[in-house]
Amino acid sequence: MPAKAITVLISGRGSNLAALLSAMREGALDGAITHVVADRPDAGGLAIARKHDVATTVVDHRAYSSRADFNAALAKTIDRVAPDLVVLAGFMRVVGADVVARYTGRIINVHPSLLPLYPGLDTHRRALADGVRIHGCSVHFVTRAIDAGPLIAQGAVPVLDDDDETSLAARVLAVEHRLLPTVVGWFCTDRLALVDARVRLKGATKCDTRSLLVPAA
Ligand code: GRF
Repeated sequence: MPAKAITVLISGRGSNLAALLSAMREGALDGAITHVVADRPDAGGLAIARKHDVATTVVDHRAYSSRADFNAALAKTIDRVAPDLVVLAGFMRVVGADVVARYTGRIINVHPSLLPLYPGLDTHRRALADGVRIHGCSVHFVTRAIDAGPLIAQGAVPVLDDDDETSLAARVLAVEHRLLPTVVGWFCTDRLALVDARVRLKGATKCDTRSLLVPAA
């Protein structure tokens, strides 16, 4: 089975991209990131991609006068490489409907909350303001609805009494860095699929069924 070609879309520092690259380097993930696309030239993750000799393209959102033009340029950029999988890893723009349609079941997003709670921005601040005791992250298939596609996997963390946005974000990010490579690994070994809008994972091993009690009793 040839390694799957993966395009990663980023807007920022690219720590999830780095987590994917290091899982590949360690042999924990059998896929190849062949292309990284950023919507801004100052995205820190571009340097990470270049360091690993991954081809990069910037589709600068400021260079387009309309969302439709930007989406058309983005679609063209993705299609040029024709990846098996598109991963949104901190990509801060809504992907156009045509890309979503063309890559249905082959486009995933990592989001820093336990969806359907807190779609959108400022997830950690909103979780703290609500006083939730458990927070986390989700990886889901991308659909036209923002941060709302079928959930593939989630990781949970406790919210501690002395947490602020920074400490909570760091705890969640550490889980993102485990969760995203795990899900991409499932896809790369043909274990993961979207069938009739439902997530199918072949050969799922039993998960840890211990409860996360917060605060601990
Ligand atoms: C992550 O928390 C991701 O879930 C969110 O934006 C952040 C991106 O971080 N959408 P990085 O660019 O991968 O470091």
